[in-house]
Amino acid sequence: MPFPQRRLRRLRRTPALRRLVAETQLRVEDLIAPLFVREGLRDPQPIASLPGHAQHTIDSLRTEVRELRELGVGAFLLFGVPQHKDAVGSQAWHPHGIVQKALGELRNEHGSDLALIADLCLDEYTDHGHCGVLDTTGQPDNDATLELYGKVALAQANAGAEIVAPSGMMDGQVAAIRSALDDGSFHNTAILAYSAKYATALYGPFRDAVDVSIVGGGDRSGYQQNVANAREAALEISEDIAEGADMVMIKPALAYLDVIARARRETDVPLAAYHVSGEYAMVHAAAQRGWLELEAVAFEHTLAIKRAGADMICSYFTRLLAEEVL
Ligand code: PBG
Repeated sequence: MPFPQRRLRRLRRTPALRRLVAETQLRVEDLIAPLFVREGLRDPQPIASLPGHAQHTIDSLRTEVRELRELGVGAFLLFGVPQHKDAVGSQAWHPHGIVQKALGELRNEHGSDLALIADLCLDEYTDHGHCGVLDTTGQPDNDATLELYGKVALAQANAGAEIVAPSGMMDGQVAAIRSALDDGSFHNTAILAYSAKYATALYGPFRDAVDVSIVGGGDRSGYQQNVANAREAALEISEDIAEGADMVMIKPALAYLDVIARARRETDVPLAAYHVSGEYAMVHAAAQRGWLELEAVAFEHTLAIKRAGADMICSYFTRLLAEEVL
């Protein structure tokens, strides 16, 4: 018997029916809030290209986390901006480095009530802006950088991070970090690997947020993934899992939904996606002109990332979604 016409519209008729048959739900528990803390500030500094976000002082960071916590947000990804940058990024592992201080304060205040994730990279801490120490060609030296990542992981775990998130795209970084953590008896510290991190043009506002410019106008295509490649992301992900990643992340999100969907089919570890600074800024810029409706697009984009297969989404929209939408 042929299907009657208009069959598919029957279940779209009312909000209750649409809710009943919705295949994907976005929950506040799925969201991770990225936050910036900067050393040596008296007051929080708004970040022009990331409306609603600021470089925080420790105090304003604590307030922000408290407020987000009240809105139901339970996971936070911390980035630090040190006062002094150097060639090796030594503030990244200094016990009194800004992120270590922030982690300690938040841990003291909230105990195990929130999941604290520390971004593990050197670019915010190096004076040349690359994600590792440089070799004679001016590119990050892979293995010398791995040693430093191990030190950063220990400092962050020691300060109270439950999860460290290596984002530098050095080969072997997950294995190096796992073995440094285990040697330091941090067996319970988990690794969220930014496994498939692309050399995208969408990180611009983030680099304002952490005061990074790459020396000589260089870029990161020597270590981040080529935008053209999806199979390579599958390789990165399986290597990271084999090296001990507890969770993996794809970044950016919206232009990489194919990569997210494939990762969901092929891996069983928790899967995160990072809706990055440029993705957020584009929506804001259009909304400011009255060209798009901010909340609606924020929700649609985030839901689409979940539908593609991400279990959790790191997003600058976390506060807006938690406050206005979810
Ligand atoms: C590197 C890092 C970057 C982002 C997160 N971790 C920037 C980069 O690789 O240049 C970008 C995040 C965003 O754009 O929101 N530490």
